[in-house]
Amino acid sequence: MPELTAPEPDATGGDAGVQHPNKAVSGPKRVRTRHFQNAKAQGIPITGLTSYDMLTAQIFDAAGIDFLLVGDSAGNNVFGYETTLPVTVDELIPLTRAVARAVTRAFVVADMPFGSYESGADQALGTAVRFMKEAQAHAVKLEGGQRSHKQIRRIVSAGIPVMGHVGFTPQSEHGLGGHIIQGRGDAAETLIADALAVEDAGAFAVVLEMVPASVAALVTERLSIPTIGVGAGPSVDGQLLVWTDFAGMTSGRVPKFVRQYADVRAVLTDAVQRFTADVASGAYPAPEHSYE
Ligand code: KIV
Repeated sequence: MPELTAPEPDATGGDAGVQHPNKAVSGPKRVRTRHFQNAKAQGIPITGLTSYDMLTAQIFDAAGIDFLLVGDSAGNNVFGYETTLPVTVDELIPLTRAVARAVTRAFVVADMPFGSYESGADQALGTAVRFMKEAQAHAVKLEGGQRSHKQIRRIVSAGIPVMGHVGFTPQSEHGLGGHIIQGRGDAAETLIADALAVEDAGAFAVVLEMVPASVAALVTERLSIPTIGVGAGPSVDGQLLVWTDFAGMTSGRVPKFVRQYADVRAVLTDAVQRFTADVASGAYPAPEHSYE
């Protein structure tokens, strides 16, 4: 998110234009919701990754990522559930706290898991407050457009920034009939109405997951808040990937929209194989690894 801010300190926090500790990263010292809005206005793409722990959060933050999502995909990628449905607020709070404590620049968004906001605005606000208070998140994310309007409005009215999420919403995967692209054909109307509802409720940004690129482009044009694509093509205001997919940690098939930027699984497999071979042969530990 470079060049998003004026060079002089701003009125609200004095953090505009201050250099990131990693000198290669320019832009705001700490990313705020206004920087998302500035990015859309200036046509500067926003970048996001999921993170579930302190070490990856530190690495991604120092490398210049704009926001980190402590996704309910932790249900799959940390806890080993088959879907995101079983993961709980109590399971996600310690992960969110670790990520929030690790960053100096990136904006940290906590994902509200299935069952933690659907009952109504009071339940939603209660969950959001827990993520802000107990985990020090900077914002929360929840799934659903028109159906989540009152929840988003109530959370925002309490001063908590909300990122919406429409298109394919994994918490509804059984209702949607599987991992199916949303917004094709006539369904584009509903998708646009959902995105507009998220904006109307006061969200600062909206995730568009697995929607046709042309529909995502239309939504991006219609909305004044930034759109963040996950499998939504290039004509959105930002891109988000699940870190275990983008870094090659995930075993098996990854979605078509993922570009794998590293093969961390292969690197770790090789390291473990060399370690076990060295221990078996007596090559490790060597004299330099032993105390006198
Ligand atoms: O939990 C998650 O990782 C997500 C993204 C895929 C949008 O919600």
